[in-house]
Parts: sequence; structure tokens; C-alpha cells
Amino acid sequence: MEYMKILPISHSDIIRKMKNISTNPKERIIVALDFSTIEEIQAAVIELRDFVGYFKVGLQAINRIGTPKLIQEITNLGGQIFFDGKFHDIPHTMEEATNSIASHVSMFTVHASAGSAALRTVAGAKGTSLLLVVTVLTSLSDEGAQEVFSQSAKDRVIGFAKLAAATGADGIVCSPLELGQLASEQDLAKLIRVTPGIRPSWSDQGDQSRTATPRQAIEWGADYIVIGRPITHPPKIIGSRKRAAQLILEEIS
Ligand code: C5P
Repeated sequence: MEYMKILPISHSDIIRKMKNISTNPKERIIVALDFSTIEEIQAAVIELRDFVGYFKVGLQAINRIGTPKLIQEITNLGGQIFFDGKFHDIPHTMEEATNSIASHVSMFTVHASAGSAALRTVAGAKGTSLLLVVTVLTSLSDEGAQEVFSQSAKDRVIGFAKLAAATGADGIVCSPLELGQLASEQDLAKLIRVTPGIRPSWSDQGDQSRTATPRQAIEWGADYIVIGRPITHPPKIIGSRKRAAQLILEEIS
């Protein structure tokens, strides 16, 4: 007779359950497909779909290939789409942009600095897709954040996260370095945390400033991690994209 093991359930497991986040580590990895051709996108989806949960398309792929084609081809290959269009406009335009993509993608992004009226309008149009609010870009250093917002990155992220929670967004995009401070804000517990700026110990920093390793980001409270070049352009010592994704999956499992 088999006995069921009773596993300890941590506080963060309970919060994740509340937010509907899968316990499967693969589902928490989003790979950024920053490519210029549909062939490169298709090849990467086929190569990586066993190791990552979501495929992020951003401004490079959207402007080079076009949104309808990206949606059609990634969906045909069984990929779940994170549409990183980073909308930033007046409420009516943001609403129409949301209407055009929300039913085709799992998650999409808008900039917090579009303001509360725009965020509320988008929240009303998002349907079942997840609305993620971009706070302070992970490429901005603290000095860069001061220059743009006259505030530290940490303080601005908390301010934008409060705005996101108040206007009906599902989550935010921030760097792993703000996760600690976010954890101390009880009112923000329900917000999904998505963190780019992920750099495994074996990869280059590139143009990212506020970074952490996959394991650090998950331990500090990320629900999803976004990783681009360390997977799509892995260093020679790692060899292939598949191997890079596999190592990251092992690191967070
Ligand atoms: O190659 P890398 O891992 O730096 O890719 C990170 C991806 O996440 C890029 O596609 C970038 O546009 C996106 N992103 C980011 N910082 C944000 C929001 C999105 O780096 N705050």
C-alpha cells in the first residue's frame, strides 16, 4: 500500500497558488525571442518548448515580422505568448491596442507611466490575458532612474506597483533587486512579479544593469523570470540554446 507524502507548504507556495502560478518550474521561465525573422522565431520555439513556459515577443520581432504573423506561427507551434508591446499612449489608443491582441496572448505589457486612467481602461479590456505593468526598465541603473524619475529605482518601482494594484493590473515587471522591498508591502501580495534582468553566473551582463541569477530571482520572490540572450545567444562554454535553457531550468527546480 502506498502512503501519500505530506510535503511542507511554504508561505510563498500559498501566495503563488492564490495568484494561479504553476508549481512546474518550466512554466515560470519566459524566453525573450528578440529576433528579426519568423524562421528564427519558429526554430527557437521548436528547440525550447520542452524547457520554457512562455515565448516573449517584443519590439524587435513585432516591428520586423508583424504581430498577426507572430501570433499565428507561435500559436500553431503550441507556444504560449507573452506580448511585450509595452503600450504607452492615451487611454483610447491603449484600449484599442489591447482589444487587438488580448484574446490571442497569455500576457501583455503596458508602461506604468501611461497613468491611472489608461491602466484602468486597459484592465477593463484585457479579458482573461494577464496585464503586466512595466515599472522601471531593468537596463536603468539607479543613476538612470534618478535622471528619468528623480527617484531611486526601488522607490519608483514601489510607487508604480501601487498604481498597478489600484488600477486592476494582474502584475508588474521589475528587476529582481526590488523583490525584497515589494515583499514587505502587504497590499501588493497579489501582484504577479515578472523579472527580466536575469543573468546566470555563466553569462554576460550585456546592457542590463539591475540583474540577478535565475535562482536568486526565484528565491527573492519572482513568479516568472524573463531571459533572452543567455538562452538565445549562449556563450561558447554552454554550447546550445537547449543546454542553456536546461541549465536554467535545473537551477530553479
Ligand atoms: O536578453 P535579455 O535577457 O537582456 O532580454 C530581456 C528582455 O526583457 C528583452 O526582450 C527586454 O526588452 C525585456 N525587458 C527588460 N526590462 C524590462 C522589461 C522588459 O529587459 N523592464
